[in-house]
Amino acid sequence: MPTKRKKIAASLLAADFANLERDIRLVEKAGVELLHIDVMDGHFVPNISYGLPVLKAIKRVCSIPCDVHLMISNPEYYISDFVEAGADYLTVHAETSSHLHRLIHQIKSHNIKAGVALNPHTPIHSIVEILEALNLVLLMAVNPGFGGQTFINNTLHKLKKMNSLLKKRALQHIELEIDGGINRSNVKKVADAGADILVIGSGLFKVKNPMKNIAELKALISNDETV
Ligand code: DX5
Ligand code: ZN
Repeated sequence: MPTKRKKIAASLLAADFANLERDIRLVEKAGVELLHIDVMDGHFVPNISYGLPVLKAIKRVCSIPCDVHLMISNPEYYISDFVEAGADYLTVHAETSSHLHRLIHQIKSHNIKAGVALNPHTPIHSIVEILEALNLVLLMAVNPGFGGQTFINNTLHKLKKMNSLLKKRALQHIELEIDGGINRSNVKKVADAGADILVIGSGLFKVKNPMKNIAELKALISNDETV
């Protein structure tokens, strides 16, 4: 039976923007699997972060895959730009598109991984008909737009439901990602509930010793799951 190793995606939103390269080197050295890049447009979410030029610059110094989380309206206009800038995973929000199936295929036509993110209030059934087309499902555990928020507990229930749906439909190759409010106190619970990728920002960078902290986070989620 193949095993599915759980991954950590370090959310750059909590890094030191004046020392991005230093923080990227740190997470790489600590064995973090993915760099999570939150793109916010001040329209779909009430905050503005960074976009294409920053992703391009990051790609020059980053050796781990870039997991780009688009929190923008009209993502269809920017797919090829984000692919060119270096996205390895590109995730769009279900709430931003009336033509999600088309959008997913637009992303996949560039031979990168395509994901759909669901806000806390968006039910799983909004994507059940297009699951086969996806490489990744991202469940928001906070309302998107800001780092450092508190994990919404119902996400655990949603995660378990999503996980059993993927199993039932023999779609375990789809990666299940959870984003927001994850830290040492809940990381194990989230991993045990079936998350494959755990996005961690404040709980990863904003601690005394990030290197040691990452090793501890990794140890907490290290029990490999048989798929
Ligand atoms: C929120 C972002 C998250 C955020 C996670 O809109 O999608 O990726 O950076 O940060 P923490 O771990 O601080 O909640
Ligand atoms: Zn995110």
